[in-house]
Amino acid sequence: MAGRFITFEGIEGCGKSTQVELARNWFQRQHREVVVTREPGGTAIGDKVREILLDPELKEMVPRAEALLYSASRAQLITQVIKPALDAGKTVLCDRYIDSSLAYQVFARGLDFQTVISINEWATDGLMPDLTFLFRISAELGLGRAIGRQADRLEQEGLHFHRMVEAGYEDLAVKYAERFVLIDGRDPVEQIHKQVVEAIRMVL
Ligand code: TYD
Repeated sequence: MAGRFITFEGIEGCGKSTQVELARNWFQRQHREVVVTREPGGTAIGDKVREILLDPELKEMVPRAEALLYSASRAQLITQVIKPALDAGKTVLCDRYIDSSLAYQVFARGLDFQTVISINEWATDGLMPDLTFLFRISAELGLGRAIGRQADRLEQEGLHFHRMVEAGYEDLAVKYAERFVLIDGRDPVEQIHKQVVEAIRMVL
């Protein structure tokens, strides 16, 4: 049987990366095979594309180039890492996936929904997650948590941009209600982890 594909989404500072790590540990304690990866990156080529995407100096990047670079990194990751793992029956946990492109490049940057979906369907051969966690916090709180570390190109966008990302995710959660699980990102880490494990058990 093909493995399950589980993605973790949300705005900056929503706590999803912490939850990916806790979920990974849970799988390992259960002696279940799990592959953990993230976007953009996760392959040698993807990591180079990531450097370009997050470089705060490259302010001239246009939204179409941005969308194509994210989907290029994704195509590489699907082929080299995600698809082979799923085919081998492993669970894949991915920190961000297509929904990030829809929230950031469509809702916040203003690109056309159908175009970005088409590019991504082509890049991934139509592979969509079985389950997507959305960690919900306000843009104010998320950006507040990110203060103190060196801001990358996307983090340098202001509060208005991140509010649009936040609203975009809410739209996606309605549109793709069958695979989205909504989590209150203000809850204590351990409590969130319990909700995550409960939902994962349902799809395994
Ligand atoms: P990263 O440092 O991985 O941020 P985070 O810890 O918030 O996941 O940086 C990834 C950035 O790229 C983040 O600001 C979201 C953005 N992004 C997009 O705009 N589109 C995409 O398709 C993806 C995968 C990420």
